[in-house]
Amino acid sequence: CGIVGVIGNNNTTDILLNGLEKLEYRGYDSAGIYVNNQKGKDFLVKEVGKISELENAVSSDVQGVVGIGHTRWATHGKPTIENAHPHFSEDNRFYLVHNGVITNYEELKNKYLSDFTFKSQTDTEVAVQLVDYFAKQGMDGESAFRKALTLIEGSYAFAMIDKEQPDRIFVAKNKSPLLIGLGDGSNVICSDAMAMLDQTHKFVEIHDGEVVILKKDSVEISKIDGTKVQRDPYTVNIDASDISKGTYDHYMLKEIDEQPNVMRKISQNYINDDGTLKVDKDLLTELKKADRLYIVAAGTSYHAGLVGRNIFEQLADIPVDVELGSEFGYHMPKLSKHPFFIFLSQSGETADSRQVLVKVNEMKLPSLTMTNVAKSTLSRESDFTMELLAGPEIAVASTKAYTAQIAVEAVLAKALGEAKGLESAKNFNLKKQLALAANGIQTIVDEKEKIKELAADYLTDQSDAFYIGRGIDYALSLEAALKLKEISYIHAEGFAAGELKHGTIALIEKGTPVFAFVNDGIGASHTRGNIQEVEARGAHVLVIANQKYAEAGDQIIIPEIDELISPIISVVPAQLIAYYASLARGNDVDKPRNLAKSVTVE
Ligand code: G6P
Repeated sequence: CGIVGVIGNNNTTDILLNGLEKLEYRGYDSAGIYVNNQKGKDFLVKEVGKISELENAVSSDVQGVVGIGHTRWATHGKPTIENAHPHFSEDNRFYLVHNGVITNYEELKNKYLSDFTFKSQTDTEVAVQLVDYFAKQGMDGESAFRKALTLIEGSYAFAMIDKEQPDRIFVAKNKSPLLIGLGDGSNVICSDAMAMLDQTHKFVEIHDGEVVILKKDSVEISKIDGTKVQRDPYTVNIDASDISKGTYDHYMLKEIDEQPNVMRKISQNYINDDGTLKVDKDLLTELKKADRLYIVAAGTSYHAGLVGRNIFEQLADIPVDVELGSEFGYHMPKLSKHPFFIFLSQSGETADSRQVLVKVNEMKLPSLTMTNVAKSTLSRESDFTMELLAGPEIAVASTKAYTAQIAVEAVLAKALGEAKGLESAKNFNLKKQLALAANGIQTIVDEKEKIKELAADYLTDQSDAFYIGRGIDYALSLEAALKLKEISYIHAEGFAAGELKHGTIALIEKGTPVFAFVNDGIGASHTRGNIQEVEARGAHVLVIANQKYAEAGDQIIIPEIDELISPIISVVPAQLIAYYASLARGNDVDKPRNLAKSVTVE
């Protein structure tokens, strides 16, 4: 699910392979490159598995000045060499990589390509054969490409090389992310700026429905119908060191450790020295008109939204719905009179959330995106953006983006509450709380060794685990369980502590690990009761309790913090437990099986 391309550089093969390596974190199961030397020689190499396997398969004679590459996350067809990209036309003229899903590929196959025997099971091959079909009818490469685009439905980022015109790469985009990077005498293509930061920091956005003819010294953008488009480049301010592992074995641990700094950065960027907040006035004006907030997100971001609900309700006195993009977009409930949408997304690219934003824009409703990636699709297409400022998050399992999302939600909730003149917001000392959060996280990450031992004690040889909590801890339990599942592959569930007895307690056996959060004042004593219930049935209980509610024997103590944002600290032990459990099982911590970092298909 990532694309790279380069034209005008003698190091094409290395640039493609490096770029694909940088995209590795997005998740994939096979990869491939096509390289052309513009003198009649070309190469196609594809492999199943890691980029290192593709690198091994690329021999030293694979050299050229134009090329495209791809990492694939299987949607249609298994991860095999045949299904890996680049795909090519019947007589090896066109080579194409694709990110996205072509929804009408069966229809196109039946209408135009019914006599053709396909080599793969992918929707993508239909695209390249369709271009070839029109070329065989007499169209030149560009017209055939444009013609195919008028027929293809669904999501795509395409990069295509026509062997008869290897001085250009044909590029097109609809819904799937794609950027052009500007070099000196050479240009690049990538799904994510991070793939090409060692080539350039200057990028040009491509919008949906646009086509680019990319040459080594020019970028020609137009609509599918040919109308020219002018767009200025922008600079990506990411330091190359932000995307290196440094001395760490894994990005995930590095990102967990970065969280105190992220809290400080958010505090510095959003709060003035006198405690007043730096939040867009127009955004607050819009928000004040709203009678309900709809937070739309997926995965970990959805869990950050669940924590945010409490924060907005308490500090800004506004009802909040938290919705999964994949559900909400297609089963939209009756909306309130004056809804305001908040899209939470680390990547800013999640297709499930984006399709909701498209509908929200059609309905002309106001929206804000909270994202870690400036200029991402969700950020560009919503009315307002608040950046998470967490720095690039590379590990698939999200850590620092989650805690950053909660902190930025708190910034906005307080700003809105203050704009409404609410005492609850004025009295919430966010500057102090974020300082406490930074210190508290530091205390927990300094206890790594202890948490590593606890993970071994509780999870070795276990196949199931439960996280329980009430109120804010319930929302947190869902995230804690997801972390454990996605990287350790231990089946884990997050449960409202009081609900466990209504069925799920049947799963508790002697030794079943139950991790209980006790950070919620109102729920604390009841959760203690639920802990007794599971212990009585043999559960091996680990308590993660705020110092205010801690009891003798609790294994992990959470330092002082306001309950409202307490998951910022109390998620950290869960992140570390998941990390060490994954490590102990010999899993690929940063790139768990089957997952992708940025899911650009619905
Ligand atoms: C993918 C990732 C999850 C992530 C979710 C939402 O499924 O594997 O870790 O939480 O997408 O991503 P977003 O970028 O929108 O926050």
